[in-house]
Amino acid sequence: MDVKEKIKITENEKTFLKSKEYTINLTYYIITMGCKLNENDSEKIAGMLEKMGYKEATSPEVANLVVFNTCCIRENAEEKLFGKLGELKNIKKANNMIICLGGCMSQEKHVIDKVKQSYPYVDIVFGTHNIHKLPEMILEKLMHNKKIIDVWDIDGEVIEGLPIKRKNNNSALVTIMYGCNNFCSYCIVPYTRGRERSRKPKDILNEIADLSKQGYKEIMLLGQNVNSYVGGEGYTFANLLRDIDKIEGIEIVRFMSPHPKDFTDDVIDAIAECDSVCKVIHLPLQSGSSNVLKLMNRKYTKEQYLNLVYKIRSKVKGVSFTTDIIVGFPGETESDFEDTLDVVERVGFEQIFMFIYSVRVGTVAERMPDHIPDNIKSERFNRLKALADDMTEKENFKYINTIQPVLVEGESKTNPSVLTGRTRNNKVVNFVGSKDLIGKEVNVKIISQHVWYLRGEVV
Ligand code: 5AD
Ligand code: SF4
Repeated sequence: MDVKEKIKITENEKTFLKSKEYTINLTYYIITMGCKLNENDSEKIAGMLEKMGYKEATSPEVANLVVFNTCCIRENAEEKLFGKLGELKNIKKANNMIICLGGCMSQEKHVIDKVKQSYPYVDIVFGTHNIHKLPEMILEKLMHNKKIIDVWDIDGEVIEGLPIKRKNNNSALVTIMYGCNNFCSYCIVPYTRGRERSRKPKDILNEIADLSKQGYKEIMLLGQNVNSYVGGEGYTFANLLRDIDKIEGIEIVRFMSPHPKDFTDDVIDAIAECDSVCKVIHLPLQSGSSNVLKLMNRKYTKEQYLNLVYKIRSKVKGVSFTTDIIVGFPGETESDFEDTLDVVERVGFEQIFMFIYSVRVGTVAERMPDHIPDNIKSERFNRLKALADDMTEKENFKYINTIQPVLVEGESKTNPSVLTGRTRNNKVVNFVGSKDLIGKEVNVKIISQHVWYLRGEVV
């Protein structure tokens, strides 16, 4: 469905948009929490707001319109949201500020109830299925001063053609599918984002061709489960990778996240064949114990995960892996945790995103027995972190004295005389170089390694 058919602006609203009353309230700030999919949604929200005439403010405190694009994958995000809402309460009036709440948290009933009860000064609540309706809701608020709560619990259609203001000039986010059908027992996403819906191949390919024309060299394909992408008439994620690889100018294609259970041989072959597809694969493990994986409803065992890694290694030259791991899932024993450490050692991940299990209201795991005490969760987290740091250091040593193509992203935040960029394997590399290298891919010889980055010199 194209957005033009979806957004209706009345004559009354058109007149209002041209009025002085409207044009004095024109700055926005978006607070984005959570994953890359949310970042991409925020880019679309920014695009729509700028189309309405809004300009980006430097901080929420000085903006006339603040949008919270929330995440609820783990518990602590709620405290962060309510803390920030509390801070804005006093300045809201002075700035004539409109406060909008969207994203995954607004799909949760207990959050909406709390907002209604304790934060009545939130003006607009919208959900994950109707971000394209935000401009209409803002107009409604501005013209009729109406408070709006509009959250859909049916799956939204795939909306194409929303304006977009991208945050990153080097790497563009491209969502290829929405929602998730997997219902991992710890995860709230299937409840907040609904069932899987894929974009049409031609819409994705046109967007990427357009990005290439704009000068983007790198894209990141996004979805909760990218390799269950369904393009229609048998068109798969592997087909999509091959077609993107043919688009001139796109040099690096990353994707996240695939689910190990859906990693077909065809996808592995496509990764091996396509030069542009990055040879670092994010392959969420979650746990190395077959018992815990069963409780998590992940649908693979420790052995199946390891066999998949070995198979990918045998077919894709120079491949490496990053992963997500949850420690302290209900029922996780010391021996289950040791299985996780064992997989980490066997695979030798380049990077591990580690999470302490956090209960999510309404999930199957919430009702499971044997929740793990906090002190044991933290102790296991620290042991995993120590092992992960050790492995990252070992992995980083492999790069020393090698020459790596590095896409230069900009100046280092801590030292403007140093440039920073990423290798095709997504490793951060810092090196001294002239500013006109920004946006280009240059060859850098790696001379030393540090836990978070490599240091090199241009060759
Ligand atoms: N507790 C902790 N971590 C979680 N994740 C998802 N749900 C939870 C939860 N309830 C982690 C998973 C997922 C990543 C995005 O967040 O590792 O891959
Ligand atoms: Fe959550 Fe599992 Fe879906 Fe990922 S695959 S979004 S962890 S339910």
